[in-house]
Amino acid sequence: MATTAPTGSPPSQPSLTHSPPPRKLTSVKALSESPGLSSIPSIYTFPKQPNHEPVSDTKEPIPTIDFSLLISSNPDERSKTIRELGKACGDWGFFMVTNHGVPERMMKAMIEVCREFFELTEEEKGECEGKHVLDPIRYGTSFNPSVDKILYWRDYLKIFQHPAFHSPSDPPSFREIALDYSKRTRGVMKEIVRGISESLGLEDKYVEKASNLENCLQIMIANLYPPCPQPELAMGLPAHSDHGLLTLLIQNDTVGLQVLHKDKWVNIHPIPNSFLANIGDHIEILSHGKYKSVLHQAVVNDRDVRISIALAHAPAADAAVSPAPMLLEDGQNPLACQAMKYKEYVELQQSNKLDGKSCLEHIRNRGI
Ligand code: OGA
Ligand code: NI
Repeated sequence: MATTAPTGSPPSQPSLTHSPPPRKLTSVKALSESPGLSSIPSIYTFPKQPNHEPVSDTKEPIPTIDFSLLISSNPDERSKTIRELGKACGDWGFFMVTNHGVPERMMKAMIEVCREFFELTEEEKGECEGKHVLDPIRYGTSFNPSVDKILYWRDYLKIFQHPAFHSPSDPPSFREIALDYSKRTRGVMKEIVRGISESLGLEDKYVEKASNLENCLQIMIANLYPPCPQPELAMGLPAHSDHGLLTLLIQNDTVGLQVLHKDKWVNIHPIPNSFLANIGDHIEILSHGKYKSVLHQAVVNDRDVRISIALAHAPAADAAVSPAPMLLEDGQNPLACQAMKYKEYVELQQSNKLDGKSCLEHIRNRGI
């Protein structure tokens, strides 16, 4: 039986009321492997969303940023790429990053070792379960089963990688692969964040300083979406924006990510070995809404296992990001965003239902 959200908190108002501990649930992996499964349990069945028709082949592909030009020593190349980056953030909030220098074998190894993790026994994986949303290692299913009324067709492993590095002890090679991968990815993130800062007309290190990026919170979110016998009824992850500054996502060769663009869901077909980057709520806050975090969701299919690995990069846990004063026009009030410590924001988001941009709305409504 599904538990409901804590009383007194309407769905669009996330709250920090402590939720009951998650129910013991079977992983979707175990469920999908049950012999003869031809339909999904009703707890996984979503009502249709009539408002946004998916479009499979958009004429307008998501923008691509050539990372090697972003870090080019040729100032013209660099400033042209920064303009493209600014346009990608403003128009889409999502873009692919190519020529980023992270070796293909490292990306593949990361995906494979996550696959191995999900293949451990339920008991072994259960050791990583975690009790609190800010625990540095958390394995689970759906998003937040203590408040999800309908469950998502997804298992996950979330691990804090920075400022303190954590790793499950099994599979044994996880630690070394994740350590390398998260470090290299942080390097890519830092240059993109500098580019974003400049594209806003700010000093290149403005965002970095305002968010204390040196101590950034880097969270790895490995998602497993097993084949689903009724994919049109289930959902991998619902529409949401990401918290933080910049998410860099890779996946195995199975598609499933959709991005809301001009009120239509667009299927994303990433260029092999590229990163899929998207800006998070804190870039929206910092840029005073000039760049908006964008809704995205994951759908499932009936044939292939999909694995995606998102590295979310966020301000330091104690940093309280607010709009850059120089981006305000004369007489304009700062976007009413209560400066909230980043860790409180994450706790708010992770303790509630995953619901569009409700966390950002929540702090905006409270005002400064
Ligand atoms: C996420 C996310 C999408 C995907 O983990 O925040 O949006 O394609 N994942 O798995
Ligand atoms: Ni996301």
